[in-house]
Amino acid sequence: MTLTEPLLPDASGLARAAQMLRDGGLVAFPTETVYGLGGDAQNSRAVAGIYEAKGRPRFNPLIVHVSDLAMAETFAVFDARARTLAQAFWPGPLTLVLPLREGVGLSPLVTAELDSVAIRIPAHPVALALIRAFGGPLAAPSANPSGKVSPTRAEHVAQGLSGRIGAILDGGPCAVGVESTILGLTGPATLLRPGGIALEQIEALIGPVALHQAGDPLTAPGQLASHYAPAAPLRLNCGPEPDAVHLGFGPSPEGIARATLNLSPSGDLTEAAANLFHSLREADRLAGPQGRITAAPIPDHGLGRAINDRLSRAAAPRPSDGSA
Ligand code: TXA
Ligand code: MG
Repeated sequence: MTLTEPLLPDASGLARAAQMLRDGGLVAFPTETVYGLGGDAQNSRAVAGIYEAKGRPRFNPLIVHVSDLAMAETFAVFDARARTLAQAFWPGPLTLVLPLREGVGLSPLVTAELDSVAIRIPAHPVALALIRAFGGPLAAPSANPSGKVSPTRAEHVAQGLSGRIGAILDGGPCAVGVESTILGLTGPATLLRPGGIALEQIEALIGPVALHQAGDPLTAPGQLASHYAPAAPLRLNCGPEPDAVHLGFGPSPEGIARATLNLSPSGDLTEAAANLFHSLREADRLAGPQGRITAAPIPDHGLGRAINDRLSRAAAPRPSDGSA
């Protein structure tokens, strides 16, 4: 068991974190979406350590985080669509899956030996400062044990990974709260995961985007049905029930019990996304070992698509070995 250092994102904390990364260590850091578990994307020992700390299946490729477009173009081939989207949404919660440039030193464990790479520039000052201080690309999945709810606060990371990673940079709560949208651009544009940038915003710039179908050859292997799971069972699209912890959305209708927790009392999808993972954790805590959770219907447009995706994974039947 190593000691996990809590670090403040000041000059000395960032220098310490960058040194750990150069030594092949792992540092959890805030992004605008969720906290990432970062390691040197060019060091296979570091990348293997990420899989190890998360208990994540090896076949699952990781997102490469860079600080600028020039660094991104070192590792991935951009076409006109990719340039348009990068210009519009980077830094920001959009991950592009692009053809990988061969022989540029990325660990084959990052791409799981695919000939494509998932890459993004995060919109968080601490993430950008860390990548710059380190001076290279960081491989970073969400900083949670595999199969658990993604962390949107430093204390969530500590709860799941303390003692298994070198340090946690505390940047406060994440503003977006759901992971980045993943768009496949190695062929026709394909939505691999709904997330922090709405599909409608992408289609406005590059035209129609295909929706990823389960079983498609271009698959995001992390998209297993059960993921982001709280411990208590979760039922979707329902109202509050007497013996369940309820996740509400929008104002409670007259005469109906108030929601135990509300993702957004005003019915704002951006606010609901930012609250989602923390609320799932809270609901789990309130429900206790024998309890259950219910969730109100969420409109399926804009960020609602990402919220519904995460909720349906949280509600899916669990694999018995918890390895999803
Ligand atoms: O917001 C986010 O995206 C967060 C923060 C930390 O940046 N990261 C994140 O990473 O959610 P992770 O590892 O939990 O999810 C990465 C997803 C997985 O579903 C993986 O299968 C997919 O990206 N992916 C990575 N490389 C891919 C590739 N070459 N082709 C298709 N999917 C890929
Ligand atoms: Mg994840």
